[in-house]
Amino acid sequence: MSGSLLSLLVLLGAVVHSWQQRDHHNDYNYVRLADEVGNKTFCSWKCLKFTLQWPGAFCLSLDERLQCQIPPDINTWTIHGLWPQKIMNCCRCWNLFPSDLQDLDEELSKEWPSLLKSKSSFQFWRLEWIKHGVCAACVEGLNSPMHYFTLCLKLRQQYNITQALSEGGVVPSCDHPYKLDELQGVLTPLLGEHHEIQCITDHQDRELWFQVKIPMSRNLTLGCPADHQDHRDPTAEHGPGQYPFTGHPCPSQTPIYLVPIDPQNPHHPCG
Ligand SMILES: *[C@@H]1O[C@H](CO)[C@@H](O)[C@H](O)[C@H]1NC(C)=O
Ligand SMILES: *[C@@H]1O[C@H](CO)[C@@H](O)[C@H](O)[C@H]1NC(C)=O
Ligand SMILES: *[C@@H]1O[C@H](CO)[C@@H](O)[C@H](O)[C@H]1NC(C)=O
Repeated sequence: MSGSLLSLLVLLGAVVHSWQQRDHHNDYNYVRLADEVGNKTFCSWKCLKFTLQWPGAFCLSLDERLQCQIPPDINTWTIHGLWPQKIMNCCRCWNLFPSDLQDLDEELSKEWPSLLKSKSSFQFWRLEWIKHGVCAACVEGLNSPMHYFTLCLKLRQQYNITQALSEGGVVPSCDHPYKLDELQGVLTPLLGEHHEIQCITDHQDRELWFQVKIPMSRNLTLGCPADHQDHRDPTAEHGPGQYPFTGHPCPSQTPIYLVPIDPQNPHHPCG
């Protein structure tokens, strides 16, 4: 091999080597950037809350002019959402279209209906996806609308509080209230001890049970890592954003009502 060819090869080798280093360096920067962006925005969460709502009380939390609507086949808890906790904003970067959920439409309509006349169920799902689902989508198994909504339906089945409550003798009634520890006693075996039972106060100052939040880790085991156990969840508290209610933990010393669900008369289930 001639001397000049040899030095050309050495030179080429050095160039390739430096390219590789630069690429490696760029990858490193890219990873670091993604990490920082991810931490600050939508991928840093450690805890999810799966939230179920009781349509009977949900409708009483609304001003009548907002026109609650309970589809005629709805007679039990429905899904409100699956919310990653303590994130400041999801990116508004992943739209949802009806065709994304075609195969789930029927089941979602039954388990996750909109309860507002002004909003179709699809509009409700779209809001939940954009507001919460997109943040959840950085985890394997949740990383598409199909995955996210399918998981929600599975969770609804797995944590079937409808069944647990009726087996525990907790049935809707306008006259017979429950105590918080009764309700917790029925739900704890299914949901773990960290579930949250939320109430609203009606205009007669009665406490109405309207929501249950079930905390779970990223890997979907019940409960959250200890430092994420607190109840502050600024993005989630108002759910889909347009609802004017605010719930609070049901009080331990006050009677709690599980009002009936009356699709004919959603704002006055107790007459
Ligand atoms: C982002 O999170 C990762 C993993 O939790 C951590 O190693 C990294 O230091 C965080 N970066 C910033 C900028 O907080
Ligand atoms: C929950 O349980 C009830 C009563 O057993 C049943 O009718 C219903 O289909 C179940 N819901 C889901 C989502 O599995
Ligand atoms: C799931 O995550 C939690 C909290 O990060 C952890 O304590 C637990 O061991 C994990 N469970 C499994 C089965 O990976």
